[in-house]
Amino acid sequence: MTQLTTNDYIAKEDKFGAHNYHPLPVVLSKGEGVFVWDVEGKKYFDFLAAYSAVNQGHCHPKIFKALADQAQKLALTSRAFYNDVLGEWEEYMTKLFGYDKMLPMNSGAEADETALKLIRKWGYKVKGIPANEAKIVVCDGNFHGRTITIISMSSDPDAYNHYGPYTPGFVNIPYNDLESLETALKDPNVAGFLVEPIQAEAGVYVPQDGYLKKAAELCKKYNVLFVADEVQTGVGRTGKMLACDHEDVRPDILILGKAISGGFYPVSCVLADDEIMLTIKPGEHGSTYGGNPIAGKVAMAALDVIIDENLIENSNRLGEIFRMEMKAIDSPMVEIVRGKGLLNAVAIKPTNGKTAWDVCLALKENGLIAKPTHEHIIRFTPPLVITEEQLMDAIGIIKTTLKQFEG
Ligand SMILES: Cc1ncc(COP(=O)(O)O)c(C=O)c1O
Repeated sequence: MTQLTTNDYIAKEDKFGAHNYHPLPVVLSKGEGVFVWDVEGKKYFDFLAAYSAVNQGHCHPKIFKALADQAQKLALTSRAFYNDVLGEWEEYMTKLFGYDKMLPMNSGAEADETALKLIRKWGYKVKGIPANEAKIVVCDGNFHGRTITIISMSSDPDAYNHYGPYTPGFVNIPYNDLESLETALKDPNVAGFLVEPIQAEAGVYVPQDGYLKKAAELCKKYNVLFVADEVQTGVGRTGKMLACDHEDVRPDILILGKAISGGFYPVSCVLADDEIMLTIKPGEHGSTYGGNPIAGKVAMAALDVIIDENLIENSNRLGEIFRMEMKAIDSPMVEIVRGKGLLNAVAIKPTNGKTAWDVCLALKENGLIAKPTHEHIIRFTPPLVITEEQLMDAIGIIKTTLKQFEG
């Protein structure tokens, strides 16, 4: 049998797969910790970590064991019956994050959709908004997923163009703008404010200190739910368990996904207290796979790893080092360095006709994979298991690569 090459794999995807992504030309076949290997055996630092789903590092043995053990016993029951894992998982999650109840789903987008439904239900059943009049305030630059309703909130034409008609009921305001928020919240038909504590997909936009705290206070003042989408920022990525923890803010509804399964399985969930969660009654929402036993075991193991291996502290400490080192780089291409914990971005100034995409191609050649977002921004988000020594090696690769673009 002839060995397929990188180009063969890419050609196959190109021919038989939808063209809804634009991947870096690297075909991965193995991962361990912070490293991945391509089909030719070349090793790379993974500085995307599956958009923060692999915070625990690739193929973590403890999470793998949880998955394998449960997969041999019972994989899926649907919610037509009880299973002997879900209650344990719900107890684990509600105790860890401090809420009355959890509602499990699979993808981040589904968890966001669930939160939107909860906001509206609460708006009608508890706040007393007239039927079909509820509004949800969202921020320009948001990224909450890809469903029709979610892209109806988007300000990015690539996300929403030609997918109309759009779901009504959203009010867009600028991110990091408390005045606009307060103006919007004055409308008595507003039920919720949905926000990312850091806008990751938009290019790692960190709001000013105190923004989240003040936004949550304003929501309380106007009897509006403060809803945090921590699908990407949660689970240690920003140097705290939740990005909201940086400002001691407790969202009324918390949305989690990605890293709560450490990359092994699509698991997401929404957490809230009874007054909100119990507005949804049996038969009014659900998912065939949501709450399955594998998801429960995998999620508990994945969160145990975050805690037991001190990955939150590691993210905080190494994030500081990373930003310091990046800011010290003397390159005309490095325009802005920003982030929190190990969620960071470098804005690249196109130089001599070379863009962030060219830098990422060169990084790949030098043994580090990262992806540009919005043309000129490169996100650097390694697994949180990265050691200081590995981080310094990776920083060395970034420095060498940027040097290649000089002159
Ligand atoms: C903040 C945020 N919410 C929701 C999502 C959607 O998650 P999924 O791709 O699992 O649907 C993402 C994905 O990047 C995200 O960053």
